[in-house]
Amino acid sequence: MKKRIVTLLAVCAVIFTGGAIAGAVDSLRMGQDLQDNAKEPAKKKQAVVQGGIERSYKIQPPAIPHKIDKDRIDLKANTCMNCHSEKTYKQKNAPKAGESHYTDRDGKVTETVASRRYFCNQCHAPQVVAEPLVENTFQGAK
Ligand code: HEC
Ligand code: HEC
Repeated sequence: MKKRIVTLLAVCAVIFTGGAIAGAVDSLRMGQDLQDNAKEPAKKKQAVVQGGIERSYKIQPPAIPHKIDKDRIDLKANTCMNCHSEKTYKQKNAPKAGESHYTDRDGKVTETVASRRYFCNQCHAPQVVAEPLVENTFQGAK
C-alpha cells in the first residue's frame, strides 16, 4: 500500500512539473499558451524570385519562384503545364519539366506528364516572404 502511494505521488510530480515545463517553452506557437486555441496566422505574401531559388541539395525538387494562387491542378486541367510542358516552355520562357516527369514507374517514356508527376505541388512548393522561424544550418551535398 505504502509503495503504491509513493508511486502515485511520483507520477503526480512528473505530470505537474512536465506541465510547467511545457507551458514555459516558447514554441512555434509564439508565446501562446498551450491550453488556448491557435490564433489564425497572419497571411504571408508569396515570394517572387527572379532567376529561381537555389536548391539546398542536388536532387531537390526546386522550390517554385513565382505565385501559383491562380493555378489549377485537377482532373480536367493542370495549368502548370501551360508553361512548363515540352510544347510551351520555349514560348513562355520557362524551364521545362525534365525527362523524369515523362517516365512512368516502369521506366516507360510517356507522351504527356507521367501520372506520378501530375500533382506538381506534391513536390514543388511555393515560398512566402518570411524570416525563418528557427535557424537552419543544413548543408546539402551540392
Ligand atoms: C505563366 C507561366 C507559368 C505557369 C502557369 C507556371 N509557371 Fe513555373 N515558372 C515559370 C517561369 C517563367 C519560371 C522561371 C522563373 C525564373 O527563373 O525567374 C518558372 C519556374 C518554376 C520552377 C523553378 C524551376 C527551377 O529549376 O528553379 C518550378 C519548380 C515551377 N516553376 C513550378 C510550377 C508549378 C508547380 C506550377 C503550377 C502550380 C507553375 N510552375 C506554373 C512560368 C510558369
Ligand atoms: C514526385 C515529385 C515531383 C512531382 C510530382 C513533380 N516534380 Fe518537378 N521535379 C522534381 C525533382 C526531383 C526535380 C529535380 C530533378 C529533375 O529534374 O528530375 C524536378 C524538377 C522540375 C523542374 C526543373 C527542371 C530543370 O531542368 O531545372 C521543373 C520546371 C519542374 N520540375 C516542374 C514540374 C511540374 C510543372 C510538375 C507538375 C506537372 C512537376 N514538376 C511535378 C520532382 C517532382
